[in-house]
Amino acid sequence: MSDVNLQRRVKRHIQAPEHDFFAVTAPGLEDLCAAELANLGAAQTTSLAGGVAFHGRLEAMLQANLWLRTAGRVLMRLADFRVRTWADLTRQAAAVPWELLLPADGSSLDVRVSLHESNLHHAGRVAEEIFWAAAKAMERQGLTAPVKALPGQDDALILQVRGVDRRASISLDTSGAHLHKRGYRQATAKAPLRETLAAALLMLCGYDGSRPLLDPMCGAGTLAIEAALMARALPPGLGRDFAFQRLAFHRPAAWAHLQKTAAANALAVPPAPIFAGDRLKSGLELAQANAARAGVAQSIQWGQADFFERPAPTATAGLVVINPPYGKRLGSVSQAEQIVRRIGRHLAEHYRGWRCGVVLYLPQWAELLGLEQIASLEVPHGGLKVTMFCGQVAG
Ligand SMILES: C[S@@+](CC[C@H](N)C(=O)[O-])C[C@H]1O[C@@H](n2cnc3c(N)ncnc32)[C@H](O)[C@@H]1O
Repeated sequence: MSDVNLQRRVKRHIQAPEHDFFAVTAPGLEDLCAAELANLGAAQTTSLAGGVAFHGRLEAMLQANLWLRTAGRVLMRLADFRVRTWADLTRQAAAVPWELLLPADGSSLDVRVSLHESNLHHAGRVAEEIFWAAAKAMERQGLTAPVKALPGQDDALILQVRGVDRRASISLDTSGAHLHKRGYRQATAKAPLRETLAAALLMLCGYDGSRPLLDPMCGAGTLAIEAALMARALPPGLGRDFAFQRLAFHRPAAWAHLQKTAAANALAVPPAPIFAGDRLKSGLELAQANAARAGVAQSIQWGQADFFERPAPTATAGLVVINPPYGKRLGSVSQAEQIVRRIGRHLAEHYRGWRCGVVLYLPQWAELLGLEQIASLEVPHGGLKVTMFCGQVAG
């Protein structure tokens, strides 16, 4: 097929029409992500287990990748069908216009399959079927076919196949590296909070940048940095690359325009102060280096301090967010419990009228804080389940 002809088909079949997309989230974050998508103006958003479905043209997918703070990746649905026999899968895979989607540069392709009570049974065979459908379609058009990704290869394009009962779907990943990898956090302290979870805790507490914020045990600085990005209306994806930039339908000019508009609309300074502290100098330096990479080092007021030895940093009540230290060993579990208790006492004494968001490693610790509960959410984090708790300190 000639280049012009191919471009014309890309325009007609991929760039012009609307598509179904799916923003994948950690279980528990679906509703926060749905609210983010609604804010972006995405159409037909539906919260489902493990993510949010939405609908729109390619620009909606670009915006989702650029702006979503709680999602892990954004998938583009290529097919969603009833499957009874292998022939159904073969036919559906052959109907996907692969040559309008995949780059003709021999990129590695990783076909990931998850089956639940599916009558497809054999995940390996499903992956083979889909890979070869894509490769042969490319070859038929005289285009360089993809190659199979090696195990653990992290720069491969990803196709996701999901089979549940008698339905199956084929999706193309548009994000690439997980969206929590914003690109700013190279230096990590112990037990850093995933960026998506940090953003989720802030959202759960209703943070919008208009009131003061304190992250007194900042470690790698994730909570304070995510807060600064939110307060200044800076998209979390401004400093990184995405898989969609490699796809056949990508329009660099449209993408550049979205990035430029976002950067131009961002606030130069946060509307209310953001404070971050840690008792360790080394922790603080790490956080400052990460914040500098995120472009928000100047948006945060840093101070080396022990949280328990300081009063609130400002007389105006705001939000204090804390990811307290936690260890899995028995001794450190009871120590962590003591810290949560101490946080509760310190808040009651010095933070009257403030709101507080805390990451708790056991849900029952919420009671130790002695706060009036506003919201609470359980989410998986690093092989554990953590509770994101938001409470109000009595005024
Ligand atoms: C689990 S880490 C925080 C991780 C951080 N949220 C992140 O994502 O990188 C806990 C941090 O609390 C700090 N810390 C512990 N006790 C403290 C205290 N009393 N005052 C201030 N910082 C403290 C530790 O130095 C450590 O950096």
